[in-house]
Amino acid sequence: MKPFDYRHGRLQVEQVDLQTLAEIHGTPAYVYSAAALRANYGALAAAFGPQPHRICYAVKANGNLAVLQLLAGLGAGFDIVSVGELERVLLAGGEPERIVFSGVGKREAEMRRALEVGIGCFNVESASELRRLDRLAQALGQRAPVSLRVNPDVDAATHPYIATGLKENKFGIDIDRAAELYGQAAAMPGIRLVGIDCHIGSQLTTLAPFVDALERVLALYDRLQAQGIELAHIDVGGGLGIRYRDEQPPAAAAWVGALRERVGGRPVALWLEPGRAIVGEAGVLLTRVEYLKVQQGHHFAIVDAGMNDLLRPSLYQAWHDILPVSPRRDEPPPPAWDIVGPVCETGDFLGKQRELALAEGDLLAVMSAGAYAFTMASQYNARPRPPELLVDGAHVHVARARETLADLWAGERLADLPA
Ligand code: LLP
Repeated sequence: MKPFDYRHGRLQVEQVDLQTLAEIHGTPAYVYSAAALRANYGALAAAFGPQPHRICYAVKANGNLAVLQLLAGLGAGFDIVSVGELERVLLAGGEPERIVFSGVGKREAEMRRALEVGIGCFNVESASELRRLDRLAQALGQRAPVSLRVNPDVDAATHPYIATGLKENKFGIDIDRAAELYGQAAAMPGIRLVGIDCHIGSQLTTLAPFVDALERVLALYDRLQAQGIELAHIDVGGGLGIRYRDEQPPAAAAWVGALRERVGGRPVALWLEPGRAIVGEAGVLLTRVEYLKVQQGHHFAIVDAGMNDLLRPSLYQAWHDILPVSPRRDEPPPPAWDIVGPVCETGDFLGKQRELALAEGDLLAVMSAGAYAFTMASQYNARPRPPELLVDGAHVHVARARETLADLWAGERLADLPA
């Protein structure tokens, strides 16, 4: 299924014309396809067949309330990393017991709130965190449900900033030390052991690292079972990649299939924490060309979205396809444009060397901007953040309004400075 496709020479999202959207809602704007969200979630869920499972959508990829609401309605669980994400999920109607709480730096107040609402699992990342959780849970007269996040020391073969499963990374507990910590945890009155967790990185485009990691986790699971520590689930994390350019990531079914096969007949549920694979290709960033500028042989198309709206190209040298909303025909071979934003940094670009027939005023769609786009956006250069539009068939829902100028300084106060 292609949620974004050309019809009558214009790029559409489902049944809505992107040019019409831009005229009504302005640019820049994030545009999401509800059908794509349903299809991506559905493909993962279907791949499990009879295998007991839980899909905990990683909220950090796209935490818009309407997106969370849609996924909660499909039965999704959620992977959160802060109390902010927790409250978002609750507001959107997510069930607390289907939430897992990941992250290396959980604060006391965050843990307390998560205990209070009854989340499904804490993915604990260190011995200190485990002790803190034990103490807090006891004070509340509870036993906190816990998985230890182990670091399986597997090379995810992805950008170093988003690889998390190597020993030298800050994440997880050394898998060779994990059995000992499980033993200690089993004796803690505030802790109830429920699973094992790992997450080795993001935007993985081959199955081998996932399988390697799972095999190491399964060896630990078997060893713990032999010691009498019974666990109900194995959480393999997220990380399945998408196609930004010419990558050929495994399909959802192949990913889940490979994991299921390794789990075999073990009486354990398989949990996942996918973010990008569900939302990434379900969104675009719509932007308009403000100026064309040729300088020292360089062709710059200056657009109204910048690195503050989509940080991935600047931060990870990530490629996003950039498509014209209304492609121009019968032009001579177009020059290669650097598509740059208005932000005062040379690193402010959305794409480089893109052969496009462009004129000022043209609309462009920066593709695969459903994940880690709005959630990593900032107001840098005092730029209000763009709206988020959720399209469902012919219906357009303003899932987040464009920020106003007043939003930029909301909460700030002029100081009472001495004269
Ligand atoms: N679970 C944990 C514990 C994670 O740390 C992450 C992502 C996920 C699940 C979801 O991973 P996904 O399925 O989306 O790959 N900003 C970067 C990506 C950072 C990912 C951080 N952790 C980017 O734009 O590529």
